[in-house]
Amino acid sequence: MCGIVGYIGKRRAAPLLLKGLRRLEYRGYDSAGMAVIDGTLILRKDRGKIEQVDNRHNFEELDGIMGIAHTRWATHGEPNQKNAHPHIDCTGDVAIVHNGIIENYMTLRELLAREGHSLTTDTDSEIIAHLIEKFYTGDLLGSVRKALMQVQGTYGLAIVHKNHDEIVVARNGSPLIIGVRGDETFTASDASAILEHTKKMIYLEDGEVASLRPGRVMVRDLHDKEMKKNHETIGWDLAEIEKAGFKHFMLKEIFEQSESIKNVMRGRLGKKIKLSIKGDIKGCGRVVIVACGTSWHAALIGRYLIEKIAKIPTEVDCSSEFRYRNPLVGPGDLVVFISQSGETADTLAALREAKKKGAKTMGIINVVGSTIARESETGIYIHAGPEIGVASTKAYTNQILALMLLALDLMQSKDGDVDEKMISEIKSLPGKIESVLQEDKRIHAIAREVADHNNFLYLGRGINYPTALEGALKLKEISYIHAEGYPAAEMKHGPIALIDENMPVVFIANRGKGYDKIISNMEEVKARRGKIIAIATEGDNEIKRLADWVIYVPRTADELTPLVNVIPLQLLAYHVADIKELDVDKPRNLAKSVTVE
Ligand code: M6R
Repeated sequence: MCGIVGYIGKRRAAPLLLKGLRRLEYRGYDSAGMAVIDGTLILRKDRGKIEQVDNRHNFEELDGIMGIAHTRWATHGEPNQKNAHPHIDCTGDVAIVHNGIIENYMTLRELLAREGHSLTTDTDSEIIAHLIEKFYTGDLLGSVRKALMQVQGTYGLAIVHKNHDEIVVARNGSPLIIGVRGDETFTASDASAILEHTKKMIYLEDGEVASLRPGRVMVRDLHDKEMKKNHETIGWDLAEIEKAGFKHFMLKEIFEQSESIKNVMRGRLGKKIKLSIKGDIKGCGRVVIVACGTSWHAALIGRYLIEKIAKIPTEVDCSSEFRYRNPLVGPGDLVVFISQSGETADTLAALREAKKKGAKTMGIINVVGSTIARESETGIYIHAGPEIGVASTKAYTNQILALMLLALDLMQSKDGDVDEKMISEIKSLPGKIESVLQEDKRIHAIAREVADHNNFLYLGRGINYPTALEGALKLKEISYIHAEGYPAAEMKHGPIALIDENMPVVFIANRGKGYDKIISNMEEVKARRGKIIAIATEGDNEIKRLADWVIYVPRTADELTPLVNVIPLQLLAYHVADIKELDVDKPRNLAKSVTVE
């Protein structure tokens, strides 16, 4: 998705902005651009990767100590030079960069055209520059406020004017943060772009605009009321957002899981579970979990855990479905929103819907200070650290464990006792994940043998049905191979028609509940000459009779098997994509943080 960086201070802005843009590359984009004020407004932008645009337009040579920059992920208008940001007004004095979508842009566009403005792009964003021009009488912040009063939709915005020593920023539904260090001020849509300069951040709220000057920030609302803001300190280090010798961020993040999983447990696991949940969840009669993509798969696992451990009826919904179906939730319900980024537009809208209906809301979030984290009544941070690869890996395992802790906490709140054996099983997870990671070479070898197939089926039962969905999603999103996840027993209701020698089938086949049934499903695939990759429990030699390849995982409690089973599936997807020489960290058409509907 689009990214914004801005700087005003004492150093040349262009090199800082360029570096910031590179740090946002992981979000996915198709064009890049920059506007710098150096006596006049200088604009450079184009379609392509930052490197290509820089080679063509030489950002680095720009002087000037203030500027804004953008990576665009096209929504309105194809990716080309004119549609790339920044956008300017008719005079060329104002430049804006915008994340989000202006919903009433067609009406505003016609109005502005009638008033004589010349709009030259196909984007919704350009109208903002012209609205500012229309209301400008010498006060940049005032004209931005007036312009935004006309706008319906979402925005994270940064604006410069050739006659002003300030950057104006604004936010509605699209994140924007401000960082100050000495007499320098930074802004970005994502902390990773400016983290190397400062860890002290101010988070803008919806409906706020701010004037940024060197070392100074003034925040107001759209009606010009001054807003008091506090700084928050980000806990992430720069080293955590770099590759540390791994070929890709995704591989680094897969390998981090034996460590990152410990961060969910830290301070929360003892004789009692300590989650510091605000308010009372004791009386909650129903849990609804809402999320998208990989987080939705974690939610499906959460349903098994909460129903089994806490014995509370639990439902799961995709955020986009939940928000539009007038859901029957209200007081007495706990609605849990899972999001790695904490900025996913559909999940945020679903959260607001649940709040409107009076339900108690909880976020299970990775990015501290993100919008969903701040707007939820209470929450559990998963502390996975920055996840840069577009394909979610370590956030997923941390989400599952956070849901496990929530299930135990809910059980505890009903006066149940937490099983000590389960606590020690949880504590042994880092070691077990580490031993699965040791299988990497073997998984790479399997990937070599299967990488040229065009279709894969992933099958699992019970708590590992979502593992099958997640394995299939990982493969399709980074290798572009068609892959489907199914509950194993559903195979005979349709997908079995696809099985032949060209269809690898990945079975999640741990010893335990449902094992015999999975073995029968494997027999059915074998009988039709399908190729089988089995994720199996260490010591299960019998499975070798049916599977073409077996990847062993350590034995653990049934409830925790998704945490060890998903690791080989992540590695398999990674190696297949890498063998195919694809852009693993930035797969086509995908964005890390989906901030539009
Ligand atoms: O940041 P979120 O967890 O809310 O993101 C939800 C999905 O967009 C995300 O999980 C997506 O499916 C990933 N690409 C999966 O790898």
